[in-house]
Amino acid sequence: MKERELKKNNGLDAGLRALHDIFTVTGPQMLDIAEKFYEAMLAGLAGQKGPLKMLPSFLSVPTGKECGVFLSVDFGGTNVRVSLIELRGNGRITVIKKISTPLKEPGRYDYTSSAATGRELFGFLAEQIAGLVRPGENIPLGHTFSFPTEMRSLNQAVLIGWTKEFKTGMTEGRDITLLLREALQRQGLHGIRPVAVINDTVGTLLAAAYGDPHADIGSICGTGHNTCYLEPRPPHHNGPVIINIESGNFDMLPLNDFDRQLDRHSEKPGEQVLEKMVSGRYLGELMRLAVLDLVQKGCLFQKNSGNITGFPFKNNSLGAEHMSLMLGDGSDGLTGTAAWLKEHAGMRDPLPVELSALKTIASLLTTRAARLAAATYAGVLRRLDPFLKLPHTIAVDGSLYEKTPGFASHLRLALDEILRERAGQVTVKPAKDGSGMGAAIAAAIAAASEEML
Ligand code: BGC
Repeated sequence: MKERELKKNNGLDAGLRALHDIFTVTGPQMLDIAEKFYEAMLAGLAGQKGPLKMLPSFLSVPTGKECGVFLSVDFGGTNVRVSLIELRGNGRITVIKKISTPLKEPGRYDYTSSAATGRELFGFLAEQIAGLVRPGENIPLGHTFSFPTEMRSLNQAVLIGWTKEFKTGMTEGRDITLLLREALQRQGLHGIRPVAVINDTVGTLLAAAYGDPHADIGSICGTGHNTCYLEPRPPHHNGPVIINIESGNFDMLPLNDFDRQLDRHSEKPGEQVLEKMVSGRYLGELMRLAVLDLVQKGCLFQKNSGNITGFPFKNNSLGAEHMSLMLGDGSDGLTGTAAWLKEHAGMRDPLPVELSALKTIASLLTTRAARLAAATYAGVLRRLDPFLKLPHTIAVDGSLYEKTPGFASHLRLALDEILRERAGQVTVKPAKDGSGMGAAIAAAIAAASEEML
């Protein structure tokens, strides 16, 4: 190897080692995070100000006997999903029809930007619903709204504040169900009756608990990150209630300079600190910052740096889906990653070590995300059952968990590391589309309690 290349490789190795050090969450750190998370949960339950809002959902887990046909609207990530769902009892759920539409189409519309209003956004949701039902149909609707909301009843939620860089105007502080109901009226959908509004974590837990009596934690590892659980002794309710922790806002965490940099340039600095380390909305940008640092230090892409066009110099030029592509690139020459670089950075012939460096960095970030999420789950388990005497199921939905190579296995390994000989009591399972199905279950519970009145 020529001397210059050798020197560069040494620089790259040292750079990667430094990244490894700052992005590694050790075993003792996970235990510390679990403990602090548990204490923050207690503080939130007691109504003290702190990072965890601990929002009651007005719902417990389903009996499994809920039946009927319901509409579900699942809103809060990249796409809005509207489904017609039949609940058949004991965990049997059939999705009769489903449509999924992006909330933004570059050059055409963007309902997540500050240029759009809540009225327009909900008008768009109502149009999607109109695409799925026949005129005049009467169907109760469950609505998954995946943002922090203050729940005033099972069917009344007020948006506390946007997360995940959503900026839609005139929506914060508004009654979400009212916005939806008005939009349905404007669309002429008089028979579509919103009866329940829930968080997506709550939907995920409801869907899992419909067929699994041990399910008591629901979590999303997707565009955003959050967890809910079945609180056995809620302070102001009789009997167990599902609490939306809003865990993405947890902030007692070891941050590095890249985390701080990302936070400073986010829509809401200082908020959603855990989410900014764990979720798909931010992981790509975090990786871009780490890669950019190596480029600026002269250890990566030097041969190409003069003519790179987009990545890593352009903000948000790397998404979690691209990280998945790199992580899943099993080809000898990492040809998928090379093709991506050619398309997104205009880079023609990166060195093999440079391609594998990208894979290494993607893996460091997803591993850290999985270990942080696992530590918070351990905090929740401590509240539920400190000695893990009973079996528990953690249901997880979201693109990161479902699609990012390595994320789910690192999550499991981290839980095993934290819970040790009791780890077998805890099952982690995917709840694909759980958040939408959960909305149908919530609607069934609400419709049944309406009938009893
Ligand atoms: C929101 C949560 C939501 C999570 C996953 C976060 O940004 O605050 O309410 O559950 O994203 O969608």
